[in-house]
Amino acid sequence: MVYKDWIDDFFDENWLEYGFAAREGEDVDHTLAFVEWALGGPCKVLDLACGVGRVAIPLAALGYEVLGVDFQPDYVEAARARAQKVNSGARFDVVDMREMSYVNEFDAVICLWTSFGYFDDDTNLDILERVLRALRPGGTFVLQVINRDWVIRHFQPYGWQWAGQGRILEERRFDLDESAAITDWTFVKPGGGQTTKETWNRLYSWHELKRMLEDAGFVEAVAWGAVDEPLTINHNAIWAVAKRP
Ligand SMILES: C[S@@+](CC[C@H](N)C(=O)[O-])C[C@H]1O[C@@H](n2cnc3c(N)ncnc32)[C@H](O)[C@@H]1O
Repeated sequence: MVYKDWIDDFFDENWLEYGFAAREGEDVDHTLAFVEWALGGPCKVLDLACGVGRVAIPLAALGYEVLGVDFQPDYVEAARARAQKVNSGARFDVVDMREMSYVNEFDAVICLWTSFGYFDDDTNLDILERVLRALRPGGTFVLQVINRDWVIRHFQPYGWQWAGQGRILEERRFDLDESAAITDWTFVKPGGGQTTKETWNRLYSWHELKRMLEDAGFVEAVAWGAVDEPLTINHNAIWAVAKRP
């Protein structure tokens, strides 16, 4: 199956209610630890595709100046409400990464939890070029995406997870023509109702992602599996760190 637009349909109130809840707690702690390690201390950060501020808000609490952007206005609203509740300095805006036009504004851009690879190859590369322009010279890009090499070795056609009070069933296929994970997500609500939505995600092996980062103009692209741990095929996520020259 070739790429088809899916994000407008998928990122709706079901993801707002159940999707984000699946990755609170420990996952946020690990994410913050890596981001802190990669950035080396407070600076001005753009959290690209920030969702409901899962990471942006605790990062701001650590002293970073954070702007979170997401294309989904309801998620940005939820992030702002969450930030207000804890008196956070994190700010949030509605921005589609395909149209992002910041220039020389940030010391770092972070893009987490496989929020990249949602479009055709030309668009994905164009997004990396926009990230590069958003950074100040010498700025750092931290990108976390699922590791294709791990997925191929450990492919599981089904998976269940708890998400808040609900549960999520993933039914997965892998399209070798496009190197794309195609997944049907069924959100099972506590009361018993359910909804199924499909996602299409271009997955990358590190050698390919590295080349793309370089094609976009990044330098010093390095892949980690965890803090101070070079990436292997046994890591399920790639933590890419690259610099604007
Ligand atoms: C899997 S969630 C991850 C959210 C966040 N990075 C986190 O770690 O909690 C993917 C996010 O990407 C956002 N997104 C999808 N397409 C986007 C686009 N074109 N521009 C900006 N954000 C987008 C979705 O609305 C959603 O919040």
